Amino acid sequence: MLPYFPFGQQFNDKMGTLSLTENERLVDVDERYQSEVALKQKLLTELPDYYFQALPGYELAQWEVLEIVLSNLVRFSPGQFSLQKEGNHWHWQNQLLHENRSFIFGDSSTLPLAPLDWVGRQVQEDLTVLAGNEATLVAGQLCFANDWCLDEKIGLPFWQIHAPIVSIVEPMLVAANKFMERLPVGRPVWRANWSVKLTNQLDMTSRHAPALKALFANRLPELTPETIGEQVYIRIERQTLTRLPRSGAILFGIHTYQNLLASEIAERRDAASRLANVFRTTPGEMLNYKSMTPFMPALLTYLDTFTLHSPD
Ligand code: HEM
Repeated sequence: MLPYFPFGQQFNDKMGTLSLTENERLVDVDERYQSEVALKQKLLTELPDYYFQALPGYELAQWEVLEIVLSNLVRFSPGQFSLQKEGNHWHWQNQLLHENRSFIFGDSSTLPLAPLDWVGRQVQEDLTVLAGNEATLVAGQLCFANDWCLDEKIGLPFWQIHAPIVSIVEPMLVAANKFMERLPVGRPVWRANWSVKLTNQLDMTSRHAPALKALFANRLPELTPETIGEQVYIRIERQTLTRLPRSGAILFGIHTYQNLLASEIAERRDAASRLANVFRTTPGEMLNYKSMTPFMPALLTYLDTFTLHSPD
């Protein structure tokens, strides 16, 4: 079952940001930790400059991300991770990866990789950094993006990252832009984003767009109300935003979760009706943006079979 399920009564055109409380994790460690971190390693080894980029001048922010991520891992999973500090001499132990690493905090020459690239390999999340008044994307380790990549967005301010945006969510993005400017230190937030996909391939960065388009064209004729539950996946991004205290930059973390539609419906009692409510009220422009329009009739017919026949 998906740990986050941002489907209620109708399509939500609001930002949907909630505060991340003291008791909530910034980075999540789940049963897919080993496989997802291994996949990241593989991608980063094959195409390091595609999956990790950092503009010069933001080393402090990268170190702050390292600090906040490692501290969070230790705080919530002390049996698996530990961090010993003697002044700036830090020692990291990751039991899940059987990794030990000593380094001097703030001295990039003591790590084998840039701090953000190194710490990104300790977590399932994609980690990106935005800085300056316009929240410009200045660094990122981004392996599991949904149809975008660093080559396209690095160096762009928040507003341009989202351009051109579906008109229905333009007011939301105006609000989000202001929100980014004012996000205070010590008040992190999170939100969830959703999509429906024909594969559970985690890495949907832009370089896979042609293959995914071909897959879509091939599969589309097979998507009937009888088969669609076993053929599409609900893909959720849990996104967090954290102002970094010293650099003033913002950490934008993305954890991607997926589940087969039929499994989610089997595991969550009201999943079908909530999904139907939201898909039915999602504006056409947004359904096009999310590439859902061609299979919407089959999808809704399938979902309705659960709501129409359920005893309650
Ligand atoms: C409160 C903050 C944010 C809000 C409300 C927000 C909202 C949205 C919405 C509504 C979409 C498009 C449709 C959808 O899939 O729902 C979108 C797409 C996207 N967002 Fe955000 N977003 C936020 C933060 C960020 C940040 C910090 C980044 C930084 C990298 C980012 C990167 C993107 C990208 C790359 C896309 C895809 C754009 C494209 O189609 O090329 N978002 N966002």
